[in-house]
Amino acid sequence: MTMFEISEHKNERVVNIASVPQRSPFRYPGGKTWLIPTIRQWLKQGAPPPLLIEPFAGGGIVSLTAAFEKLADHITMVEMDEEIAAVWEIILNGKNKWLADKIFSFDLTHENVKAELDKPNKLLQDIAFCTILKNRVFHGGILAKGSGMIKNGENGKGLSSRWYPKTLHDRIRAIEYVKNKIDFISGDAFEILEQNKNNNQAFFFIDPPYTIAGKRLYTYFDIDHEKLFQLTAKLKGKFMLTYDDTREIRQLADKYDLQYRTIPMKTTHHLKKNEIIISDNFIWWTGSNDR
Ligand SMILES: C[S@@+](CC[C@H](N)C(=O)[O-])C[C@H]1O[C@@H](n2cnc3c(N)ncnc32)[C@H](O)[C@@H]1O
Repeated sequence: MTMFEISEHKNERVVNIASVPQRSPFRYPGGKTWLIPTIRQWLKQGAPPPLLIEPFAGGGIVSLTAAFEKLADHITMVEMDEEIAAVWEIILNGKNKWLADKIFSFDLTHENVKAELDKPNKLLQDIAFCTILKNRVFHGGILAKGSGMIKNGENGKGLSSRWYPKTLHDRIRAIEYVKNKIDFISGDAFEILEQNKNNNQAFFFIDPPYTIAGKRLYTYFDIDHEKLFQLTAKLKGKFMLTYDDTREIRQLADKYDLQYRTIPMKTTHHLKKNEIIISDNFIWWTGSNDR
């Protein structure tokens, strides 16, 4: 997600976009920065919705983009992972400046990282800082068990190859300007979807852990996919549900009578693959992801 890349794939263009402002402090495995142009089209099908709900928020790029670009009046982000939730709590509801300054002034060495991670009795703000640290110095940004610290780094720069303290500081401070529009809920996506299923004014951007890659990438990967389809089919508001393109997912979409389209993308390893976009309507769809 760093370079602007376009390549041909069955007459469809694969776009990895540098034109999308990187607003999240996370480098998020499975992040949706690449899908932002399509998400803009989806959110612009009428007047900006009064409420956008992102029940599997992760790195939160969709919520942040909607807030900064005024694509929704209000936004609710939900995330179950306590480490990620701590970051959003601190940035949106607590010590935004503390976290930004802590990152900016931290002396990144193996010893200092280890000392931070091993600290006992961490406060929420310490958990938030450690989550950002791990996200930046662990392989692929992966926080799930089994992940570990980078040795040689992703461009020969060692531990600091993904540590951009000034950029992270500035991104966190910028979120202060839109925080009044965003509610963060540390909780379960299924509960929030259930509570809001009759809200016909809300837009739902639903990006669950995928069936295949989820296990390696996330601490909370094991969700009931069929239940999510069932619930999505009942939503009165507009929705976009994204998935990896597998037979199982196509079967579920057919079973719950949900329309879908496929969209090409490139993985971080530069492999081309398709993802599935499921939505209540496709009037907004142009089939390309480059605006
Ligand atoms: C595919 S990622 C979302 C990525 C996000 N769209 C982005 O661009 O950064 C899925 C997220 O859902 C979270 N998650 C898993 N089960 C959940 C649940 N039941 N409720 C809320 N969040 C959950 C995971 O921790 C993970 O952060």
